[in-house]
Order: sequence, then C-alpha cells, then structure tokens
Amino acid sequence: MLYIGVDLGTSAVKLLLMDEKGTIINVISKEYPLYFPHPGWSEQNPEDWKKAVMEGIPELLKGQDPSLVAGIGAGGQMHGLVVLDENDEVIRPAILWNDGRTQKQVDYLNEEIGRDVLSGYTANIAFAGFTAPKILWMKENEPDKFERIRKIMLPKDYINYCLTGVHCTDYSDASGMLLLDVKNKCWSQEMLKLCGITQDQMPKLFESFECVGTLLPEVAGALGLPETVRVAAGAGDNAAAAVGTGTVGEGRCNISLGTSGTVFISSAHFGVDPHNALHSFDHADGGYHLMGCMLSAASCNKWLMEEVLQTKDFAGEQAKITDDKLGCNHVYFLPYLMGERSPINDVYARGTFTGLTMDNGRSDMVQAMLEGVAFAIRDSLEVARSLGIKVTRSNICGGGAKSPLWKKIMANVLNIELDSSESEQGPGMGGAMLAMVACGAYPTVQAACDALICVASTVKPDPEIAARYEARYAEYRKIYPALKTVFKELAKA
Ligand code: XUL
Repeated sequence: MLYIGVDLGTSAVKLLLMDEKGTIINVISKEYPLYFPHPGWSEQNPEDWKKAVMEGIPELLKGQDPSLVAGIGAGGQMHGLVVLDENDEVIRPAILWNDGRTQKQVDYLNEEIGRDVLSGYTANIAFAGFTAPKILWMKENEPDKFERIRKIMLPKDYINYCLTGVHCTDYSDASGMLLLDVKNKCWSQEMLKLCGITQDQMPKLFESFECVGTLLPEVAGALGLPETVRVAAGAGDNAAAAVGTGTVGEGRCNISLGTSGTVFISSAHFGVDPHNALHSFDHADGGYHLMGCMLSAASCNKWLMEEVLQTKDFAGEQAKITDDKLGCNHVYFLPYLMGERSPINDVYARGTFTGLTMDNGRSDMVQAMLEGVAFAIRDSLEVARSLGIKVTRSNICGGGAKSPLWKKIMANVLNIELDSSESEQGPGMGGAMLAMVACGAYPTVQAACDALICVASTVKPDPEIAARYEARYAEYRKIYPALKTVFKELAKA
C-alpha cells in the first residue's frame, strides 16, 4: 500500500509518497506566500495551504495507482493560530510560530500570572510564538473577530479538517499552544479560562498515530483517491521529523536545521526544565520530549545568500571555507533575525555581525553566519546538558543539513557525532510513518522506525577544530548579554 506524508512548512508544503517498506516513490513541493504585515509579525493564509495540498496531491500521484493509497499523515509548522467561525470559515490570516507581536501578552502571562503557575498548568511558560498569547492578543486587538471564534486549531489541523471534516489535533502539536496539560494529556481548564475560551472551541485530542477519520466524499473525488483513505492525527513538524529520523523512545536526539533550528530530545518519561528554557512537550510516539527552538536557522543562510549577497549559489559561497579556517574566524554573527525563542526568550533580540576588520571579506561573513547558527543551537544543547542529559550523538536533518560544511561546523561546535539517515525527508516522512501506524501497517511508531530508518553517514568532530570552537563559543557567549539592553532600546525607539 502507499502513504502520503505532508510537511506543512513555512515557505512551502512538501508532499511525499512512500510504501510501507520505506521506498520513496515521489516528492513534490509547492510554495505559498509568507506575509510580514509589520516588522516582527508573520502571517499566512490557511486557504493557501489548502490550495497547495489539494493541487499537490494529484501531482504527487501522477503515474501511480491511487487505489493503493491507504493513509495520509501530516507534520506541520507548530503554534500558528488558525481561527474558524460558525461556518468553519477562516476568520483572519494565521499568526505564525515566528510572529513576535505578543510581548505584552507574554509579559502578562509570565509576570502577572507567573511562570511557576503556567508551568504547573501546562509544563511550559509563555513565548511570543505560542498560541495562547496570540489568542489574548486577538481578544484585546480584534474583539469583533475574537467573538466570532468557534474553533481554534493549528496549521496542520486545518488541513486535516479540510480532508476529513473533523476538528482534531494531536498531543505533540497541542503542547505548543500553552493550553494543554502536557503531563496529563488534556486541555488545561485554567488556561482556557485565562484566555477567555471554552473547551468546545478546542479541537478533539488524539495521539499522533491515531486515525481521525477518512476523506470526505467530495475531497476524495477532487483528489482522485478512495474515500477509505485514513487520515492520521499527525504531529508538530519537529515531532514528525523526529519520527522520520528514528528519534523516539528514551534519550535520543535530533537536530533540525530548517527555517527554525531545533534540538529535540525524546523521552519515555515526562520531565520539565526547571527554568523552562527548553519546551516540555508530548511526543508523536506516545511519550514526551524536551526541545529548544531557535527562530532563524537555515533562514539565516537563505537571507544572507538571497537578500544580501543576491546569489543562489549556496555551495559556491561555502567553497572557500576550508578546514584550516574552522574555529579561526574572529567575526561573529548573532542569528536573531526574528528575535529569539530558546533559550533567551527575547523578541527584541536582533541579528548582528560583530568583530569585523578591514581584512575580512564575504566568506568570513558567510562562515560567521553558519557558525552563529551552530553556536545558538549549542546554547539549547548546553541547557539540556545542565539538566544532566548526556548527548554524545544526534541525528541531523533539515535543509541546512544538506551542506557538508555546515554539518562539519555543527559537529565541531557541539562536539558530538552527527548521524544523517538514509532517505532523510524530515516531517513528511514522519507524517507518512504515522499514517502507516494509523492504518495498521505497523503496531507502534517505534516498530515503524525500527523497520524503516537507518543511518547513512556520520560526521565526527575533529579534536583540534572542536578545541578551537570551544574558545570561539566562549567569546560568542559574551555578545548577546552585552547587547541585550541595546536591542530593547532600539526596538522601542
Ligand atoms: C517549534 C517551532 C518551529 C516551527 C517551525 O517550537 O516553533 O520549529 O514548528 O515550523
């Protein structure tokens, strides 16, 4: 049988067709616009996601027998606020995970309600990108639209709703709303009350690998698929990527270098970072995970290449950065182009190049950008290490991990071995695997991972380069604290 994996990303949806032995038959991608209506705001139109998925699936299936498709599963960008009215029409554009408009609401939640109280209700504190502060923002700034809300959901849940007519979400994605009691896997009544909403405005909760329903007849007709196709609840994109790299069960790590950058540590047991710098979320395998998320990772590379240097030749720009240069750069880059989430939780933070001298050229700046992202990922890894979590190796995935140089820099900055899986397809592959479990092709997510995921290559740190980076990282760590108040003043100017 065949399975469709949907990776509902920030710049595009990627669709993947796979059989239950793990053979990838086809992959396609469809872009959609991203809107920045004010500096620091970030929105997308849910109808654009739906159009891309509805047009993309028939394209994905070209030349295949559609009657063989058994299931669909999605991994989606997390935290985005999608609001529907009584006719299930979208009320306003979705406010995305990297949107920074809610500092006032975040301060109210963290300072007035209190971090400990929030952490007791949900296992997490408020971050600007999380969903609950956005609901409070709507209540305050768009009261008429707020009054019309009948259902609240997350981006990939909107796609599942369009496919099945079921208002649903899964625990991994719901964890990032700051409305879920992550430990007990139910909506936090206290948080719903704080946001002025009720449980019937929330979607039904499922495990990621459960079937939420089958295709609506008109949708099946439009896609050319059987009505019997089962749709899995799916997962937040990081949990889905973790499934797609075999990061399930106890104590495994996956690093994703996508638009965002994440450090994802799976666990069979519930746990909270006492300082809440790492998120404590449910996992798509039925367990839990801790995660650090930086808001701009591979997007820093895209920004520097396309917007600043005006080139598409990413590999060419990196070609001059040879091994002898690694750990010797005195230019530093703070990758805070959209503010930052983990671990500093600062919407005012901004990108900077520091330490430039007349002898520096373009490749030093490219190198500084690649290193700055690696240092920022290390910041989250250091928080995990401070909790006693030993990470000596990790998977690495995402668009940024396609660069051998960036992978080498990451391995040396983090001083760990980095594995890449064979046929790495990130959240889309995880989504297809969740669909396989929802259709009974595998009994558990772990069983699907055991059967389908294997390591294709490993990058090991070089002791000399890693030692040089150790010293550079110590210098890098001084830059943000020195600029923190300046960033805030600049944002208010
Ligand atoms: C995770 C997060 C991002 C988005 C990107 O907390 O905000 O990784 O899910 O799609």
